Amino acid sequence: MQVVILESAEEIGRHAADIILPGVVSGAISVLGVATGSSPLPVYRALQERWVPELTGLTVFALDEYVGLPPSHPESYHAVIDREVTKPLRLDPARVHVPDGNAADPPQAGPDYERKIAEAGGVDLQILGIGGTGHIGFNEPTSSLSSRTRVKTLTPETRRDNARFFPSPDDVPLHCVTQGLGTIMDARRVLLVAQGEGKAHAVAQAVEGPLSSMCPGSVLQLHPDATILLDEAAASELTLTDYYRFVFDNRPDWQR
Ligand code: GLP
Repeated sequence: MQVVILESAEEIGRHAADIILPGVVSGAISVLGVATGSSPLPVYRALQERWVPELTGLTVFALDEYVGLPPSHPESYHAVIDREVTKPLRLDPARVHVPDGNAADPPQAGPDYERKIAEAGGVDLQILGIGGTGHIGFNEPTSSLSSRTRVKTLTPETRRDNARFFPSPDDVPLHCVTQGLGTIMDARRVLLVAQGEGKAHAVAQAVEGPLSSMCPGSVLQLHPDATILLDEAAASELTLTDYYRFVFDNRPDWQR
């Protein structure tokens, strides 16, 4: 796991773009996993600012979707991904996939999504945020560390956190379809971004805490190629910050 502490959200966006764009241009990244939430927005902005035509060839998979919101609802993740990712990066909408939160047979939405990911050859790089409960995607605490895409129930805390996007807290859906932790772990590289003090505890648990389904993000400790980009506030509860900075400052040329 590589932990990089940067000065601002903008710098996190630039650093992420430095990782993603060469892969897109070389063809090493042809399937990109994207996340919703405010944390990855600086990444999408940086990609937009440094737009390259190869971005239009990407196949994209979102992590999750609310159950029961029509895709036209402005807070459905279909709509959010369209607004924040597909349009600004001029992606081909036919290649942008979001789990179906309105499937006639909800339990089937998970396996259907898994099949699409497999048919695309798997995710080359997955962008992640982290929720206050330590969730990645919508895998709330006690999610199986080997779970696959399925319907989950949101915790009251996550519903409260996401209430800011809805007219009233009761409007936040109770259920979602989310890629599982096992699905996320299959991505060849993962890039988690977090900013602000509100994420400090979840980040510390995920990076330095025990491997536990109580903090689903801790599963990334098992990933062979996980990069964690943090601002100072999100890194404030980590104990090895001096070491992470030392590693970053002394990274070999081939890693720059
Ligand atoms: C939602 C999404 C997650 C995201 C989390 C954090 O719950 N399902 O993928 O990481 O929110 O959101 P934010 O980045 O806005 O704090």
